[in-house]
Amino acid sequence: MDIRENLNQIGEEMRQELEGVDGLQALDALRVKVLGKKGSLTALLRGMGQVSPEERPRMGQLINEARERFTALLDEKQREFAEKEKEWRLQKEAIDVTEPRDLPLIGAEHPMNLVLKEVLDCFTSMGFSVVEGPEIELDLYNFELLNVPKNHPARDAQDTFYIDDNVVLRSQTSPVQARTMLTQKPPIRIVCPGRVFRADEMDATHSPVFHQIEGLVIDRDVTMADLKGTLDAFAKRLYGSDIDVRFRPSFFPFTEPSAEVDLTCVNCHGKGCRVCKGTGWIEVLGSGMVNPKVLEMCGIDSSVYSGFAFGIGLERITMLRYGIKDLRLLYEGDLRFLKQFR
Ligand code: DAH
Repeated sequence: MDIRENLNQIGEEMRQELEGVDGLQALDALRVKVLGKKGSLTALLRGMGQVSPEERPRMGQLINEARERFTALLDEKQREFAEKEKEWRLQKEAIDVTEPRDLPLIGAEHPMNLVLKEVLDCFTSMGFSVVEGPEIELDLYNFELLNVPKNHPARDAQDTFYIDDNVVLRSQTSPVQARTMLTQKPPIRIVCPGRVFRADEMDATHSPVFHQIEGLVIDRDVTMADLKGTLDAFAKRLYGSDIDVRFRPSFFPFTEPSAEVDLTCVNCHGKGCRVCKGTGWIEVLGSGMVNPKVLEMCGIDSSVYSGFAFGIGLERITMLRYGIKDLRLLYEGDLRFLKQFR
């Protein structure tokens, strides 16, 4: 058969098969079938031996031209497929950034933190600084320097966790008072938030671990009027401008005189309700004028300086703020409870 005819036939067959090719794999197979080592065009080239020497260059040229044409055809098809495949992959892998998704779980600030922030805000805006102290505390600071000597009956009021005779889990934040007075000269204006511990069973109003915020002011000419004004500002800031404070005589070893401080009932605003047992007042904190004995023990001249102190229960004021009836809700981490403070 004439080589020209052969070339035409191979070309025709290839064009036909090319139409049926459906992807890069099939295209590669076709390329091998025509141009590969055992391909039909290569076979034709091998058959050149039979061609007469005069015709050989001419035939060789024809075959080479055909190889170029075929290669161009196959390459073009390959580009087409590659383009299609890229489009298809882009479509398949596309991410719809507008697709609605479940929102990630976002936590809420704990109500005690919310209230603590407000309290600290209130006092720092009146010139107080925030000071912290250790939770594992020396008996010296927790009791002795606060005018509660060893074996004094006043210790019975606080069911303290003793680590040994001289080390306790602090039963109050008041030891930060002693620590500050011993290291800082007046004027002193501090609030000290923190965790405190007492050997109490857990119930709706008690917990072996709870939180207090201690306050201490020491300066020349500090009077009970300053104490009352400060606490009045605190009450109004936290619960509203119609809330008043009322002082009742009380006893704390580290203050003299001492006062239990009531606020206008935040639930009924003084009319009388179940929360205030009909009195219109609720007991909220302890306070008093710093006992001169405490000042002297802590190295402050009580003939020059005077001061006041107070201790606020953070759980108590948080529960009043949000109408929470059971202390345990503050510790259990129940999401249904916590989510309400978002
Ligand atoms: N530390 C007292 C307690 O835990 C509370 C307290 C009362 C603190 C009067 C004070 C204060 O600083 O002056 O019961």
